[in-house]
Amino acid sequence: MDKPPRSFYAIFETLPRQGPGDRDATLRALGCLPPLTSRHRVLDIGCGSGTQTLDLARATDAHITAVDNHAPFVEILKNQLAQRGLGHRVSPELGDMADLRFPDESFDVIWSEGAVFIIGFDRALSIWRRLLRPQGHMVISEMCWLRDDPPVEARDFLAAEAADIVDIAARRRAIAASGYRLIADFVLPRLAWWDNFYVPLADRAARYKATHPGDAEALAVTTRIEHEIEIYRRHGEAYGYGFFVMARDA
Ligand SMILES: C[S@@+](CC[C@H](N)C(=O)[O-])C[C@H]1O[C@@H](n2cnc3c(N)ncnc32)[C@H](O)[C@@H]1O
Repeated sequence: MDKPPRSFYAIFETLPRQGPGDRDATLRALGCLPPLTSRHRVLDIGCGSGTQTLDLARATDAHITAVDNHAPFVEILKNQLAQRGLGHRVSPELGDMADLRFPDESFDVIWSEGAVFIIGFDRALSIWRRLLRPQGHMVISEMCWLRDDPPVEARDFLAAEAADIVDIAARRRAIAASGYRLIADFVLPRLAWWDNFYVPLADRAARYKATHPGDAEALAVTTRIEHEIEIYRRHGEAYGYGFFVMARDA
């Protein structure tokens, strides 16, 4: 997948998080796992500027490695950790989720919120599996259809985005077929899309557009963002993020 343009990053670097999500959902998924102590190692993949990484660090005693392929996000997370005195427990790193260079069975938990679409849910289950110790846990949030008959406009938009979207039952089947046992799943509330993502995104995009008159790339990026938000406003009951908590089979 090509990296997004400069204007996209300029907007997304100022956001509290880079995708729909929320602390209660992170903690709800975490609550499905055994308590994570200082002996446990967590890998947060596609961490962005690390809002969920910070939530995991505050809620556990585990050591967390947080990986993203965009250096400014990694730097933002490092600064946040330093400000909160958490730098000794979290290691932010630049890396490619399609080519993670950690030894086999390095982690007790793999975590990835709103990022797996970059390589695809099924492929991630397959290529990240070796990184987990047997019986280790994986938590992934990924877009799913929530209705059997999604509206054509939403379908067309997400197809044009090449979104890997299927229903929850299909995700459950993929989990079972990939050597994992599903422990729990739930859907991210719609408010988490608005309050934590689309409201700040719409605000930042509008400001960026206003401060970059005559910039064709800025116009294209902000128009695309406005369209995405409008599609969700019209059809957000038809799709959402499923949180899937699973354990690696032996
Ligand atoms: C939608 S954001 C989600 C970020 C964060 N987990 C959150 O929920 O706020 C997807 C993240 O994946 C990162 N990313 C994109 N391609 C990647 C790759 N090949 N390897 C690692 N991270 C990648 C992006 O830079 C971005 O931070």
